[in-house]
Amino acid sequence: MTSAGTHSPPAAATARPWWQDMVLYEVHLPSLRDGDGDGIGDLHGLIESLDYLAHDLGVTALWTGPFFRSPLLDQGFDIADHCDVEPRFGDLATVDRLLAEARARGLRVIVDYVPNHTSDQHPWFQASRSSREDPKRDWYVWADARPGAELPNNWTSEAGGSVWEYDEPTGQFYLHSHLSEQPDLNWRHPGVRAAMLDVLRFWLDRGVDGFRIDVAHMLMKDPELRDNPPNPHGRNVYDLQHPDFDAQLHVNDRMHPDLHGVLRDMRRVVDAYPGDRVTIGEIESMGWTDWAAYFGAADELHLPFAFKLIETAWEATALRATVAELEAALPDGAWPILALGNHDRPRLATRLGRAQARVAAMLLLTLRGTPTLFYGDELGLVDQPVPLAAQRDAFGFTPGGVSRDPTRMPMPWSDAPNSGFAAPDVAELWLPVCREYATRNVAAQLAQPGSELGLYRSLLRLRVGSPALRAGSWTPYEPVPPEVLAYVRAAGDERKLVALNLTDRPSRVALGTAGTIALATGADRTGEPVRDALVLAPDEGVIVDLERRDDQEETSR
Ligand code: NOJ
Repeated sequence: MTSAGTHSPPAAATARPWWQDMVLYEVHLPSLRDGDGDGIGDLHGLIESLDYLAHDLGVTALWTGPFFRSPLLDQGFDIADHCDVEPRFGDLATVDRLLAEARARGLRVIVDYVPNHTSDQHPWFQASRSSREDPKRDWYVWADARPGAELPNNWTSEAGGSVWEYDEPTGQFYLHSHLSEQPDLNWRHPGVRAAMLDVLRFWLDRGVDGFRIDVAHMLMKDPELRDNPPNPHGRNVYDLQHPDFDAQLHVNDRMHPDLHGVLRDMRRVVDAYPGDRVTIGEIESMGWTDWAAYFGAADELHLPFAFKLIETAWEATALRATVAELEAALPDGAWPILALGNHDRPRLATRLGRAQARVAAMLLLTLRGTPTLFYGDELGLVDQPVPLAAQRDAFGFTPGGVSRDPTRMPMPWSDAPNSGFAAPDVAELWLPVCREYATRNVAAQLAQPGSELGLYRSLLRLRVGSPALRAGSWTPYEPVPPEVLAYVRAAGDERKLVALNLTDRPSRVALGTAGTIALATGADRTGEPVRDALVLAPDEGVIVDLERRDDQEETSR
């Protein structure tokens, strides 16, 4: 921090690693594009989409989603072989081609690393469950029921019900924090540690640019398996979790401090490779001090997701406080990664409505941190109900289960039958076609500068070309009316004011400095001069290039 409320870029601003400047695009592989005619998205389809991602949209990196051998009960987060490719997605040669084709377009490729659990079809688990004496028995977490109780403890799974599944042949329970088909690995076992670190090396050797580490906060549990206390706060409306899961405070089944040693081991492996590879941690929304600990002493995660931003009420005071808290909690030299949605949560335009989703796009792409876009949000897609018979997410099949399929519809590329997601003659798609594809699709929106896609394209171009937006300081701008969130991003002589009207009523922000509108989320106002006041239409966000005043306080380095 240089002065109260102003947050500056890391001291070594000239030596910024590429991932601080990246704009990351989350691909949900089964839903992006079918390249081989079987109705499910795959790596071939992803390769066909690279020109769109790199050139039309303008992101700089993609996160693939898991493509490893898997029964696909949890969209590939149930892995049966970490070092092979699920045939429905392609093969190892297709991954190599993806890496080469992405690189040729200047795109980085981040792949998933799923260390907390495997599929029950994984040979390690098959061995582990075969006998209590098997050398791999303790690669997973086995326990007996507590004396006088039916289960080892009260922990509830993200998919609902107990985390414990009784396994008849050996007469013990195994732990599964998600589906019963996803047994948790025991990271306290040195064999697991060594084998899973080798998985990182396998993909690093093939040339991936980094990893998105699944549920990195869950890798270590209380070794005494103590019960979780009840959750007094009720349902989490920002997530799509089972009510059983929300009924507890998950203090003992995750976030044990020993996990930081695991993250340091992972980081050492990644840092041993040339080329600045990156580790991105999926860690649940948590207090800022806990969140900051995931950076370690710059020896754990490069980028732990700051999911508190997603779980903040869409309201100016709350959002301003969240961003300020994040900035204050950020360790020296550390850099945040931000998202406003993903494959586990209601879509942005469902949560906020389409008008505010445009304002949200401006927020995400003008904050200080690496932005992550969820596929299809750039088209303003909304969740759509999926009939039970067509559902794929096994989280929806457990008693009282909550399916995440509504957020994961096939990407609508055009108004052709099957929405350009699959060839027109493909009879059955992985999930039902996007209901709005006839009018809401990539081809249509590329032709409409005022569309959601047009806005994302403009925002991305502005960000990529602006040192202030990419790397500059962040200072809340005050006073503003209560419905407005405003801040200044500054670097060198460049000062950009971002003013977001979070309501459907018009608003007005008094300005001390004149400027010119660089971009607005609604009507085209680019180039419009502003002097004493900035008038905001309902649901409008505006970026203003502020003129430099001679008496201006230096806020950036
Ligand atoms: C987090 C992933 O984002 C989610 O989709 C998945 O179900 C669980 N981890 C289990 O891998």
